[in-house]
Amino acid sequence: MKRLKMGLIGAGGIAENRHIPVYQSLSDKVEITGVQDVNLVRAKEVAEKYAIPHVYENYLDMFKHVDAVTICTPNKFHESIAVAALNQGVHVLCEKPMAMNADEGKRMLEAAEANNKLLMVGYHYRFVDSVMLAKESMPEVGAPIVTRVQAMRQRKVPGWGVFINKQLQGGGSLIDWGCHLLDTALWLVSPSKPIEVNAQTYQCLSKQPDQVNDWGSYDHEAIDVDDHVSAYIRFDDGSTLLFECSWAANIKADKTHISISGENGGVNVFPYEFYQPKYHRMVETHADTKEDQQEAALLQAQNFVDACLGKDTLKSSPEDALQVTKVIDAIYESSEQGKSISIN
Ligand SMILES: NC(=O)c1ccc[n+]([C@@H]2O[C@H](COP(=O)([O-])OP(=O)(O)OC[C@H]3O[C@@H](n4cnc5c(N)ncnc54)[C@H](O)[C@@H]3O)[C@@H](O)[C@H]2O)c1
Repeated sequence: MKRLKMGLIGAGGIAENRHIPVYQSLSDKVEITGVQDVNLVRAKEVAEKYAIPHVYENYLDMFKHVDAVTICTPNKFHESIAVAALNQGVHVLCEKPMAMNADEGKRMLEAAEANNKLLMVGYHYRFVDSVMLAKESMPEVGAPIVTRVQAMRQRKVPGWGVFINKQLQGGGSLIDWGCHLLDTALWLVSPSKPIEVNAQTYQCLSKQPDQVNDWGSYDHEAIDVDDHVSAYIRFDDGSTLLFECSWAANIKADKTHISISGENGGVNVFPYEFYQPKYHRMVETHADTKEDQQEAALLQAQNFVDACLGKDTLKSSPEDALQVTKVIDAIYESSEQGKSISIN
């Protein structure tokens, strides 16, 4: 059986801790044949550690030797690398978020369409067991009324990499962490479509010196991205989504929450619970679901590889990823302008 030749671009944390192990565990269908990083020493170190045969100084040199690439660079480079790869006939799995903004995302989507190549964004929460069961439950939930999303971390500003740098990442807690739960919630309530956003972003706690922070230390003077975000999102069917995210919150504990109250029932995602009026009372259903991130990443990789080999279709479309990016853009714009922003 043909094995997919995979190249890795950006050999940092997510490449080493997530993509390399999952591709190596799918070695019957995919082989990592090359790695590239602007930090050549890092690329060589990763290649040696994981027996990756080729190291490239320039990703353009990699494209003729691979079928697909996985982009694991800071967000600023997602668009240019993805478009270059797609134009060379190479499929792309790009880490989340899709891009710095929707204009960049649109160009990525156009390049995928023009070259008839696959583009997937690494929103792996869709492959989390409890999320997949929630999606299966949506017909019984019925039309969504109110969706609540909380991506809340108690004092966890990433103290490594470039996560607090707006120029390289495009934003902070929203574009980095909130994007996962936004994608998940928008997928669950689709085909309801977001049409208007009213939001406020904050850069507050992380700006204070000597902060308590569980994920290492960072330069509070250099941070120029959001640490808290709240938003009210209206959909074309009249339903709404209440959104809150933070990576530096003064709260009791981290909270990852999505729940949807629908016309016929309600679902809670983490953990999976389903609520329904039945037998003249509210009946609650629980399921033995897992919330394992690495397992979800494996299913995501399997889906992408199988789709590249022509054996499956993508379960996470670039059109959906672009929609998430449009909502993120609208949240930042609404906060800046102090008014509601329409999404088209
Ligand atoms: N899916 C998830 O849950 C998840 C988790 C963490 C990170 N990510 C995403 O993965 C990406 C990388 O994050 P990370 O945590 O691995 O960061 P990181 O800082 O650990 O690694 C980034 C790597 O990219 C390299 N790099 C920088 N610019 C480059 C360029 N132009 N070309 C090639 N290589 C370049 C750096 O040298 C570094 O080795 C980000 O987009 C981030 O949002 C996703």
